[in-house]
Amino acid sequence: MFTITNRVLRVGALMLACACAQAAAPAQEPYGFGSAPSPAELERFVSPLPDGRGLPPGSGSVEQGKALYAQQCVACHGANLEGGIADKLIGGRGTLVNDTPAKAPVKTVESYWPYATTLFDYIKRAMPLTAPDSLTNDQVYALCAYILSQAKIVPDTAVMNADTLGKVVMPNRDGFIADPRPEKLPPVASTPHRDVAIGGAAK
Ligand code: HEC
Repeated sequence: MFTITNRVLRVGALMLACACAQAAAPAQEPYGFGSAPSPAELERFVSPLPDGRGLPPGSGSVEQGKALYAQQCVACHGANLEGGIADKLIGGRGTLVNDTPAKAPVKTVESYWPYATTLFDYIKRAMPLTAPDSLTNDQVYALCAYILSQAKIVPDTAVMNADTLGKVVMPNRDGFIADPRPEKLPPVASTPHRDVAIGGAAK
């Protein structure tokens, strides 16, 4: 009888010790390796939201973008952004919805992309094709300004920065419909992204 009680007590003590050890382990390092990135390390990663939150500091004008485009983009995207060995960047407005089977929609930044901030994100991450992530934030803003001006979405005098780029209304802004399928994700309020959720935190 004594032995059984003693054993039960010992098992209980062991379980308690395990629970304590688990509670003491850092929550973010379940495998015991790696370290939290510093703000400086995270600085070069951008992930802007449609309304401009998350865009980095910096700015660039249409004129500056024009010069950069001529040096770094023209070979693939064409002198008039009409495309060549790579995508056409402007044009195609009004072609997405049509009743002519022979007429394919022309999808470009101008005709298709719903948010201007995607342009920053995409160019920063992926262009020029041969040297992605090589452009400074100022250069990326300038290229956005140039492409948007050639698409007649902003004037030739436009300067793009974290504030102005988020305010640009793209022609196809309302051309997408919300996905009606229910999300199998936790409510926004209980995710780490609650502070940057579009439309504010969930109720
Ligand atoms: C060596 C060729 C090349 C160069 C130089 C180049 N691009 Fe591209 N670009 C591409 C290719 C290829 C794609 C398509 C990539 C894909 O769909 O995965 C593309 C796609 C894009 C798109 C997206 C178009 C769309 O509708 O999906 C943008 C915007 C863009 N490039 C901007 C730029 C800018 C700005 C520069 C100059 C800094 C640049 N590119 C330089 C080859 C190039």
